[in-house]
Formats: sequence, C-alpha cells, structure tokens
Amino acid sequence: MNLEFLETPLASIDAEVTIVFLTETLLEETADETLLTQAGFKAKQDQLSLLHEKRVLYCGVEKLNADSLRSAAATAVRSLKDSNYKSAKVGQYFLKNTQALVEGFVLGYYSFDLYKSKHEASPFTELFMSAENVDGSMLDAQEVKTVVDTSKTVAEAANYVRTLVNTIPNDMTPSSLAAMAQELATQNSLTCTILDEHALETEGMHAMLAVGRASVHKPRLIHVSYKPKNPLHVISLVGKGLTYDSGGLSLKSPTSMVSMKMDKAGACAVLGILKAVSELKLPLEVHGFIGAAENMVAGNAYKPDDVLTAKNGTTIEVRNTDAEGRLVLADVLAYAQQEVQADYLFDYATLTGACMVALGPYTVGMMGHSHALKHQFSKIAASSGELLASLPFNAHLKKLLKSEIADISNVGSKPYGGAITAGMFLDRFIDDEMKQKWMHFDIAGPAYSESSWDCHPYGATGVGVRFSIAWMRSLLNAQ
Ligand code: BES
Ligand code: ZN
Ligand code: ZN
Repeated sequence: MNLEFLETPLASIDAEVTIVFLTETLLEETADETLLTQAGFKAKQDQLSLLHEKRVLYCGVEKLNADSLRSAAATAVRSLKDSNYKSAKVGQYFLKNTQALVEGFVLGYYSFDLYKSKHEASPFTELFMSAENVDGSMLDAQEVKTVVDTSKTVAEAANYVRTLVNTIPNDMTPSSLAAMAQELATQNSLTCTILDEHALETEGMHAMLAVGRASVHKPRLIHVSYKPKNPLHVISLVGKGLTYDSGGLSLKSPTSMVSMKMDKAGACAVLGILKAVSELKLPLEVHGFIGAAENMVAGNAYKPDDVLTAKNGTTIEVRNTDAEGRLVLADVLAYAQQEVQADYLFDYATLTGACMVALGPYTVGMMGHSHALKHQFSKIAASSGELLASLPFNAHLKKLLKSEIADISNVGSKPYGGAITAGMFLDRFIDDEMKQKWMHFDIAGPAYSESSWDCHPYGATGVGVRFSIAWMRSLLNAQ
C-alpha cells in the first residue's frame, strides 16, 4: 500500500472512499448520524460502518487518542484491503495522533502469505492523508509530513521484522539470517561481518557452539553496524536468534514447540532497528550483534549435566537444554562488549515463557540496573504503542542460579520467578563498567501471537522496533 501525504484539504483529494473516525460525541455531531444509527453504528471502538452510496467508511474510537486511533486505523485498513475499492483518503486527528494513525494503517495492512499457493493481491493500494484536521483547520503541512515519513519508516521496519520472524525455520536458518543481514547491509550502506562456526571456536564462544551443535545448520554470529559521521552516542544491540528452538534434549512438548520459529524475534528486531535507524539517518552509531543458532536433537547434542565455558571464562552447568537463549546471549554479550565500547547495551530476546506468565502476552519485560534508563523506557512505553514493564532484580532469586560444580547454573533451582532468574543469569556476563548502560528486554510475550490483537495480525508483531526508535529519538531530543 502506498501511503501518501498531501497538503491539500480532504475535499480536493480524488479517492474512492473517505475514512472517518468517530467518538460517540463526534457521532452526535455528524450529518450522517441518523443513517449511521439506523445501521446500528454506535461509534464503539473498532466498529465499522460503510456508507457505500456516500463513499464513507466510519470507524468508531473510544477516545481521540493514539491507542484508540492506531487500533481503529488498522481495523479500517484491513476492511478496505478486503474490499474492491482501490483508494481511500483520511484527515488528521490532531498532530499528536498522526504517528499512531500511520502506524495503524501500515501495520494493519500487513499480511504474510509467502506460503499460500494463491496470492490474491488486494485492489486497495492507495491511501492519501490530508493535512486537514478533524476540527476543519489545516495543520502545518511540514510538521505533519515529517511525522508521516518517520512513522512510515518505523512501521515498515516492523513489517520487515514480521516477515523475517514469520519465515519458516527451514528457510530461515542461521546462515540465511546472516544472508538477510548482509542484504540489509548492502541496501542501507551498513557494514556486516559474519563469524562462522570456526571463527566462533577461535573466539571461545563455547556456550553458543554447544547450543547449535546438534543442528545441521551451524551457528553464526552476525555483526551489522551503522556508522554515521560524528555520532552523538554509540549503542550496541544484542539479539537472540534461535531460528528454531525444539528445546534440545530437554525437549519441548508438541504443543509448546509449535511457533518456536519465533525464537529469532530478538535478532530480527535488532535488524529492524538498524534498518529504521539508517533510513531515518539518526546521528547514532548503532551496532547489532546477533547470535543465530538452531537448538535441535542429535547424537552430538549438548546435554543436561554438561559444563560449558563461555567466552568470558565463566563456566556454566547445563541443567536444561531448553534454557538455550541465555547461553547464546552469554557469549554474544561478551563479544559485543569486547568489540565495541558502547554508551548503551541493550539485548532483545524471546527468553522465557515465565515472562508471559508474569506480565501477560502483550508486555515486554525489562530489566536493568539503571533507574534512569528504566524510567525512560517506562515513559516511552506509554506513547510508543508497545507495552513495557519492569522486572526487579532480587537477591533471593539469585541464589537459585548457584551451581555445585560450575560458576553458575543455566536454570533456577525453583520454578518461580523464571523471567527474573534468566535476566540475572545474563547479568553475570555484563562487565562492571557496563552495568548501568545495559537493559535486557524479554519479548517472549508480545513477539508472536496466534490470534490478532491491536494492529497485529496472526503471527509475528515486529515488537522492539517502535519502542527502541522512540527511545533513540527521545535521547537525541534531550541533547
Ligand atoms: N524460547 C523459549 C522461551 C519462550 C517460550 C518464548 C514461549 C516464547 C514463548 C526459551 O528458550 C525457553 O524454552 N525457556 C524455558 C526456560 C526454562 C527451561 C527455564 C521456558 O521458558 O520454559
Ligand atoms: Zn528454549
Ligand atoms: Zn528459546
């Protein structure tokens, strides 16, 4: 879909349908109130009513705020995608909501049909956005255009992440993920270095190598970077890239194995963030480090009872091969800190089912030692359309990671607080001088869903891109 911003009033734009968002109050003021009421339209959130003769698609919103409009925009665009209309137009609902509207349209239009034998292209391909505001005034065209362009870039980066994550494990192996990173690097003038299994051996990354050993698709470490001239900050992003997580010898149950192609969502989010940062030309040096591996079963698989030596020399007792993400991240976090002296270090991982138990499936769990960073991300969560909540470090839980035979165990000895013990495991691989600069994002809940919600369809959501870019932009605005 081509979303195009036009400075002109709505009436002067040539399109087949006009999208109009209505609150209950706005419904009472509209000339079509009688017709809409007859049709049973009450302006409830996401309720649609198409007045075909008038060529207007009305969509209900609870309030004229970002969350309501994002969801309604997605609902409206989905219904147009299924129609025979080719084009639509829409106005503004105050500048503060423009970002959410654009996100709703771009994210709502997305669908993943790579594996459908019949591709039915939708006739609906043109959406025009006018600078005309809901109150009849004209908003500053330059201001609106800037927001539209930025929001479109960010939402398209999230769609890019969705497609990478949705791609099946046979098609998206560690080396194909590396090829995708290479392709992004070529298109967006980034640098890209790939470490194969031999290079990983040389680097002493035995934890990551053990996780990937039973797979025919060997692990890769992917380092992609965006280095503009005179960057204001240096940021390292680390992503968990399990192209498939069967659980290994601690095999997952058949039902919990389904959808584990999404265990690469952290890695894909890192690529999506780099795509957006480079297209927005943010004055930030951003490094993405991805640990790509497949956790499988074979005669040479790593086992519960093994002891692995990670890159930083820490020995890890394996008690559960399904807690593999933290093993991969242990090595990649150590590598990232060795390679780049960053001002910030963030990791993104579909790390624990426990995070979903703690926060529900829609919220990212974040952990970090810096109260300032956690506060900044909490504030961002309120406006970025992505939900984040803080999980606390806890000295009592830390004891659960004690190993009798190695420096640390890869799982807690008791089942509760699993998202926190996983975060505390990662903490062991963060150098002292980086502690205050590090944030861990457990995206296991919102990365993937088998039912549509908000502006997300079935499957991957692309979580991570929007809140990270929002934080980076707020960092630059605070200069
Ligand atoms: N990839 C999973 C976490 C996960 C579970 C992501 C469900 C998305 C949905 C991770 O590797 C895992 O298996 N974690 C275990 C840890 C346990 C063995 C301590 C889990 O959460 O059960
Ligand atoms: Zn696992
Ligand atoms: Zn996993």
